[in-house]
Amino acid sequence: MRGLYLLSFAALWSLSTANPLRTMVVHDSIRAVPSGFASAGTVSPSQQLKLRIALTQSDIAGLEAKTLAVSDPASPLYGQHLTPEEVATYVSPAPETLSGVSSWLSENKIASKSISPAGDMLEISLSVQDANTLLAAQFESFTHIASGKNSIRTLSYSVPAALSSHIQFVHPTTSFTPPLAKTLTMTAVSSEQKRAAENTTCTTLFTPSCAQAAYSIPTTKATSPKNGIAVAGYANQYANSQDLSTFLTKMRPDLGNVSFAVDLIDGGANEQYLGEAGDEADLDVQYTVGIASGVPVTFISVGFDSTDGIDGFIDIVNYIMAMPAATRPTVLSSSYGFNENELSLSVATSVCNAYMQLGAIGVSTLFATGDGGVGGFSSGTTSCPAFVPTTPASCPFVTSVGGTQGLPPQTGAALSSGGFSNYFAVPSYQTTDAKSYASAMGSQFSGMYNKTGRGYPDVSAQASNVEIIWTGQLYTVGGTSCATPIFASVIALLNDRLLAAGKPVMGFLNPWLYSAAGRATLTDVTSGTNPGCNTAGFSATAGWDPVTGLGTPNFDKMLAALGL
Ligand SMILES: *[C@@H]1O[C@H](CO)[C@@H](O)[C@H](O)[C@H]1NC(C)=O
Ligand SMILES: *[C@@H]1O[C@H](CO)[C@@H](O)[C@H](O)[C@H]1NC(C)=O
Ligand SMILES: *[C@@H]1O[C@H](CO)[C@@H](O)[C@H](O)[C@H]1NC(C)=O
Repeated sequence: MRGLYLLSFAALWSLSTANPLRTMVVHDSIRAVPSGFASAGTVSPSQQLKLRIALTQSDIAGLEAKTLAVSDPASPLYGQHLTPEEVATYVSPAPETLSGVSSWLSENKIASKSISPAGDMLEISLSVQDANTLLAAQFESFTHIASGKNSIRTLSYSVPAALSSHIQFVHPTTSFTPPLAKTLTMTAVSSEQKRAAENTTCTTLFTPSCAQAAYSIPTTKATSPKNGIAVAGYANQYANSQDLSTFLTKMRPDLGNVSFAVDLIDGGANEQYLGEAGDEADLDVQYTVGIASGVPVTFISVGFDSTDGIDGFIDIVNYIMAMPAATRPTVLSSSYGFNENELSLSVATSVCNAYMQLGAIGVSTLFATGDGGVGGFSSGTTSCPAFVPTTPASCPFVTSVGGTQGLPPQTGAALSSGGFSNYFAVPSYQTTDAKSYASAMGSQFSGMYNKTGRGYPDVSAQASNVEIIWTGQLYTVGGTSCATPIFASVIALLNDRLLAAGKPVMGFLNPWLYSAAGRATLTDVTSGTNPGCNTAGFSATAGWDPVTGLGTPNFDKMLAALGL
């Protein structure tokens, strides 16, 4: 394969009379400005841009096969996770990719630097004028109407024909991403008032002890130091240690005054002034530290040095890939996302392949699905020509977490985003489930969802009336943002027991979750719907469904299924 590439590139180089780097072909284009955005005119030619060039990885199909093998309990390779160095042999660009792209950039007098451990991502800084020349593009300013935020994008860009197969994408170019959405809904009523006004139950106020009761989660402290949960923080969301301390005093006095570590990437910050506390960040830290008893939690604050939210999603993966094994988290919990159609297919695929790398080294990545039912991150009441899948929840290499509510037996929460991807085909571990759900649907919602796409969520947990401390006060919050750190905590506690028994950690969860042994540990949720787009949405049913996935966790059953 490599020899073939080298040969064709060299042949083009020497045989053609014209420089092959001057024949440009369109690499990606969109027909019109996406809805929600408006043209805001030209920008100064001297304005500086920072662009990323994602290079073609030498053997992503090989890494996919390997990742599935080490994650599949039926495989002899189960649990034999790769080292980051081994992953790099699959994702590093081939030498001819690097040399071809370097020649092109140096011919255009553009300097580049590598920004990933495997060298598959380059960053270039250049003026709008130079970017227009380099990429045969027309960068202009566009406004995201709802937020008023401006960004510089182009409707089309080209790369040299000889390099087309060596470049995955240049970003940001044709992906129009709105400001990153957190998957959290705050209620206006402080739960202190609620507590005083009514007899509370786990339905009206959900606390860590409700999670422990509903999902058989132990209160005993984890002991392994080689374990940890990384909580992703974006969009100026800061986790406040005073809020956590108040929360633990009230909800988990048995844990003592434990705290969390903070890592900063892309110019992230750690503001600890109480007024700067983020609701999402506080929730994520309180429902990991407060449920994964004794598991070290690291809040990774991703700043704005990256050009938009999607860069940060890849940077957090590269950051974890570069960590020494002894201090690397085993679980990544992330409650942010996009509507799938806001990213180009190549960008969404590259982000998904980054999570594949985490799975290969044994890190479980969990994503909240979103809070707009089948409308994704769009408002639940608008009419849509088709349902709106969300991503990275739709990536087949993450475990996507939907929402439930009520006392056991729980029902699906109406806000729980779920459906079928338009970008990612149904993965092998899910084929039977997704196909049988879609065929049982018959012609209902025909044309509104993709019957051959990856179905999501995979699993679910509480997403309603969850009690947190925010800026010193009790609040109730709802959303798949609540479900994700709770499920992530269950996995981290399992990893603690596995490590204590000298066994490999869970890693990429889905092949195990969908196996007969894995699904038997989950509590199937068979009622509830996820309305959106002016429809009633999908319905939870017996077995997998695109509202609650395979169901909610049960720690004791999971432990037993793992032979512990
Ligand atoms: C709370 O429950 C008790 C016993 O069930 C009942 O007597 C009381 O009226 C309830 N209080 C409120 C505010 O509903
Ligand atoms: C708990 O620890 C934090 C530091 O993480 C500190 O600021 C706070 O005062 C401590 N609270 C108590 C009650 O000891
Ligand atoms: C449906 O999903 C498949 C991948 O499974 C994709 O190739 C196809 O383009 C999707 N169809 C639409 C209409 O998005």
